[in-house]
Amino acid sequence: MNLIGKKIVLGICGGIAAYKTPILVRRLRQAGAEVQVVMTRAATSFVTPTSIAAVSGRAPRDDLFDLQAEASMGHIELARWADCVLIAPATAHLLGQLAGGLASDLLTTLCLATRCPVMLFPAMNNVMWESRPVQANVQRLSEFGYHIFQPDSGEQACGETGPGRLPEPEDITPHVISFLNTSRMLAGLRVLITAGPTREAIDPVRFISNHSSGKQGYAFAEAALDLGADVTLVSGPVALPPPKGAHVIQVQSAEQMLSAVLSKLNSTDVFIGVAAVADYRPKEVHEQKIKRVEQGLDAIPLVANPDIIATVASSPHRPRLVIGFAAETQNTIANAEAKLIRKKLDAIIVNDVADKRIGFNGDNNAATLITATGRKFFDQRPKHWLARDLLLELSSRLTGGLAPTNPLYP
Ligand code: CTP
Repeated sequence: MNLIGKKIVLGICGGIAAYKTPILVRRLRQAGAEVQVVMTRAATSFVTPTSIAAVSGRAPRDDLFDLQAEASMGHIELARWADCVLIAPATAHLLGQLAGGLASDLLTTLCLATRCPVMLFPAMNNVMWESRPVQANVQRLSEFGYHIFQPDSGEQACGETGPGRLPEPEDITPHVISFLNTSRMLAGLRVLITAGPTREAIDPVRFISNHSSGKQGYAFAEAALDLGADVTLVSGPVALPPPKGAHVIQVQSAEQMLSAVLSKLNSTDVFIGVAAVADYRPKEVHEQKIKRVEQGLDAIPLVANPDIIATVASSPHRPRLVIGFAAETQNTIANAEAKLIRKKLDAIIVNDVADKRIGFNGDNNAATLITATGRKFFDQRPKHWLARDLLLELSSRLTGGLAPTNPLYP
């Protein structure tokens, strides 16, 4: 894979890591890309426009109101010209501007005006990177569809040690190559995803449910859409907006979720069960509200709900790939492996919800992907980001024996 024929706008912000960008330009060009650099005013204090012009073969742009530059290629034309906008280093200030939807200079204006993917490589002091405002902006930007890459950890220019370093140009370039070559990796595939909790009615006002927020399942839907898939999302009750472009079926109970899933099975290539399905439901739903009685209520008789993913995996209309999700509080890996086998899945993604930093209601998650042939750990990152990384990992491993009997691409 290479970048031949790809047009990249490289945005450079004013951070010390900007000193790495002339080498980055060279690496991108060596891989075959055409590179047009756009610098912020502050970036020119760290790297000179002359060096950038020399390595990129094009005059860098830094002014939205530069008449001469605008006359040769206006900023909207530039936004259309690019196959990808890559910003390295992306400073805390830039993340804040983009998260706020500001168009205060040429670079931020381009990011709003372009339809192409925008990749951000943040670099800053580690305390700044871990601060709540910056992390909130990162989360917001992921939700907006920006692709944010984790900074490297290590010794920083400010003398501190921690996450915040710009990866070396040799390491950024392969990310860009794989990103631009995988951006429509799931095109043509029909992906069916379950998300959120189910609600099992006791009477007209009460139900049994769980803490699932639906965020991880919705993040999978958004990431799959982003990668070009045709997505159907069967969602339990959550407080999230429907992902743009997905076909959404709203359900309440496990039985409704099962029948919605079965109705789509004939036209599904990949099934991802992220829903936290209630295992049991009340044996009967009382027509009227159950009244409080003096002696109390001893029990609500329960019956088992259908196992949706196991039904899908054993169906004659089994999709080519069936992926489960397990939230565990103990014996995480062993429990998930047992589920992989018991439910006849091709892969299971497991997270430890006993870990307070991740899990049900948070915006971040960490997970282990388990298949018949091995495991891979994905450390803590925003749920959108995790979903994309997992989908890319799954699709790139398909030819490598992930599901030999159910290859995604025959
Ligand atoms: N699942 C399902 N239908 C169910 C229960 C679970 O489709 N009735 C799916 C989930 O969407 C998930 C996977 O099975 O993909 C694992 O869910 P989990 O709740 O961990 O599995 P359970 O079989 O309910 O196991 P546990 O005994 O831990 O509750």
